[in-house]
Amino acid sequence: MKMEKIRFFLNGKDVETEIEEGEILLHTLRERFRITSVKEGCSIGECGACTVLIENRPFYSCLTLSSKVRNRNVKTVEFLGREGLHPIQESFIRHGAVQCGYCTPGMLLSAYSLLLRNKTPTVEEVKKAISGNLCRCTGYVQIVDAIIDASSKITERMDDQQIPDRGCLSKDEILNLLASTENSLIIAGGTDLLISLREKKDAKKFIDVTSCKELKGIEKGVGKIFIGATTTHTEISESQILLNKANSLRMASESVGSPQIRNMGTIGGNIVNGSPAADTVPALLIHDARCILESKDGKRLLPLENFIFAPYRTRIERGELLLGVEIDELDGFEEGYVKVAKREALAISRVSFAYAIKEKDGFFEELRLAIGSVTPSPFRARKFEERLRGKERDKRIVEEACSILFEEIRRLSGDRPSYRYKFPVLRDLITSRLGR
Ligand SMILES: Cc1cc2nc3c(=O)[nH]c(=O)nc-3n(C[C@H](O)[C@H](O)[C@H](O)COP(=O)(O)OP(=O)(O)OC[C@H]3O[C@@H](n4cnc5c(N)ncnc54)[C@H](O)[C@@H]3O)c2cc1C
Ligand code: FES
Ligand code: FES
Repeated sequence: MKMEKIRFFLNGKDVETEIEEGEILLHTLRERFRITSVKEGCSIGECGACTVLIENRPFYSCLTLSSKVRNRNVKTVEFLGREGLHPIQESFIRHGAVQCGYCTPGMLLSAYSLLLRNKTPTVEEVKKAISGNLCRCTGYVQIVDAIIDASSKITERMDDQQIPDRGCLSKDEILNLLASTENSLIIAGGTDLLISLREKKDAKKFIDVTSCKELKGIEKGVGKIFIGATTTHTEISESQILLNKANSLRMASESVGSPQIRNMGTIGGNIVNGSPAADTVPALLIHDARCILESKDGKRLLPLENFIFAPYRTRIERGELLLGVEIDELDGFEEGYVKVAKREALAISRVSFAYAIKEKDGFFEELRLAIGSVTPSPFRARKFEERLRGKERDKRIVEEACSILFEEIRRLSGDRPSYRYKFPVLRDLITSRLGR
């Protein structure tokens, strides 16, 4: 097994260790540093017992390659308790917010991360911040009360020393690696990839693209916006540019997984994974997104509509890297993203849609609608859009037009037993959002 050295900051201390290629941070912390407060629960990003902070944001260590923390600041619950009990720990005890304690280190770190950024959180904000941490015995009322109570006692700030050199790979270095290494896999957040590789024990060579500056960020151009492939869902959901010009996309990213998944998962990974339920794809479709791809042979632009052609199948070719997506701004549109899932956090959508409406004097001047989780890949409902263009924005008219939408869906994927549930849900939600 090939070993590599990594150096990083662990609870404020400069540390160095050797890791195996493909080693997971959870195992490095538990086995190489004996930090057993970082628990292994589900190993698939669903329980939060393995939560650590990286640059003060919660991450699932069970889905983080150890090589990713090179030169970064990692914190475990030992950081909180370094000078005796921390005010959040005291508050958890005071409120009886601990029973078996299995979830507690991760829960404390998610709470600490929230309170560093927000000193006066509401109950809703606390619930959202801990939505990626499951507790199966204490009950959330005490936990939420404890966090709210601790909020007035936290004096710390987002004070982490940022280490500028993360050992960045340039885009050209990535393209060279892709061209020269057989069987290497591009990894961004790893939240899809590491789960799909879980059962495969053979060692993988990863090309981690997240340190590449050319793939990151949101840039406004003239009438267009560029979103780099490694931009995370957190960055998208906090973007002011997208709030103003592509709010459905911002809302879609905000609905993804949990805080940990949004800090780790990227828009590029969401697209290239090709899931029919990928939350950002319907929102990107209504903005006519174009995928920007590059390999050693050159660059190409492909409409997202043609990029994903079957479940988990895309037109990306060997040696190609997704640099990002370019979308059109929608000015003067009312936008939204609606997701129906089994529960609020950490749930894959059963039905989803993104819409944009330009209304004039009570009529649809323009309308865009894209549907997810119902067909083999998310699609733009163009016939439905045409039917309503120029029509009155009226609930009855929208409801009638849904029959065209259902025809479009059946044409794409035939009839399915799930449509007995999905069609009425879609009809009701589309009618209430689009109609008046
Ligand atoms: C617990 C949990 C909850 C989740 N909830 C949701 C949810 O609510 N909604 C949702 O849509 N998704 C969800 N996901 C799926 C996942 O988090 C998202 O799809 C995420 O955006 C994937 O991004 P990533 O950076 O982690 O991708 P990775 O896992 O790193 O990569 C995914 C795929 O894309 C390829 N890839 C990544 N970047 C590039 C690039 N720049 N160029 C070429 N190929 C690339 C990789 O090789 C791989 O094949 C969830 C996952 C988990 C584990
Ligand atoms: S062990 Fe459950 S989220 Fe990591
Ligand atoms: S205290 Fe037992 S799982 Fe939360």
